[in-house]
Amino acid sequence: MFVLGIESSCDETGVAIYHSQKGLLAHALHSQIDTHRVHGGVVPELASRDHVNYLIPLLEQVLRDASCSKDDLDAIAYTAGPGLIGALLVGSSFAKSLAYALSIPALAIHHLEAHLLAAQMENPRLDFPFVALLVSGGHCQLIEVQNLGQYRILGDTMDDAVGEAFDKTAKLMGIPYPGGPILAALADECQATPYRFPRPMTDRPGLEFSFSGLKTFALNTWNKSNKDEQAKAEIAKAFQTAVIETLIIKVKRAVEATGNKRLVVAGGVGANKALRIALINWMQQIGGEVFFPALEYCTDNGAMIAYAGCLRLLKGEQDRSAGVEVKARWPLA
Ligand code: KG4
Ligand code: ZN
Repeated sequence: MFVLGIESSCDETGVAIYHSQKGLLAHALHSQIDTHRVHGGVVPELASRDHVNYLIPLLEQVLRDASCSKDDLDAIAYTAGPGLIGALLVGSSFAKSLAYALSIPALAIHHLEAHLLAAQMENPRLDFPFVALLVSGGHCQLIEVQNLGQYRILGDTMDDAVGEAFDKTAKLMGIPYPGGPILAALADECQATPYRFPRPMTDRPGLEFSFSGLKTFALNTWNKSNKDEQAKAEIAKAFQTAVIETLIIKVKRAVEATGNKRLVVAGGVGANKALRIALINWMQQIGGEVFFPALEYCTDNGAMIAYAGCLRLLKGEQDRSAGVEVKARWPLA
């Protein structure tokens, strides 16, 4: 079965075709970074308009790349939430109209579920259940993934998400949007730092996170520094080290609490090299296994939506209603 996937929850337009037997046939992505950079962050209205411009060209591209036509499609999966309401409406209206015109089912996909399943798309031997660390621009959660659609939240952030903390810390030192990956690259290049940042909420039991204090700590450190390139790199290093150590401490607790040594890292911060290395090393020590999606499937993309849609279609799910319904907020559990 051919499933078209459409992602438009934030600042990336992603379109892909996944085949139930052959796997991922094609995927295409348009990033809106250039559109939003001058504004220092995502402007929702501009995001919606940009999705309108790119959905049809990207659809044509994936059909060409997969050597198939619209008539070959068996279903269309789209991100129904959570995300920016206007951006979600563009993708879902497009998906549902096309599905209606082709008389095939549409499937409303939860964006975070798609992130959780992205590693499975490339690793068929990664079976349920597993523990997932979901670290993106909007989320920081530890989740026990029991089965498709069965998710138990083990821990959540009380304030900023990890990606958000990376982006805000970058911004306060004048690093342009999207600051997270640039801050991470600076940290990776810096050999040593004189600064030590706190490891928030690790001195008490539990799996909750809090990252907003780190950002304030970074601001105070930056204001007391020479505010030069060296200080920027040293603060980036201290910040990243603190974030990674905090995440590892909580992941250890989650693995102990569930007794499950299979870990999946999902979401945009899963692209962070130092986090990957630290988790791989620790998992090796305890005889467990950690799975990461390829870098291109860590951040937002259409392939993960097509894959999640395919799994749900195979379970017999579909939505043939004509209306369009999206959710800016939508708890995963
Ligand atoms: O999953 P994603 O593409 O979008 C959301 O659904 O949020 O995640 C984007 C987030 C941004 O905050 C970005 O700064 C962060 O992931 N990110 C990184 C890295 N690459 C992307 N954070 C740290 N290190 C990276 N290498
Ligand atoms: Zn995402």
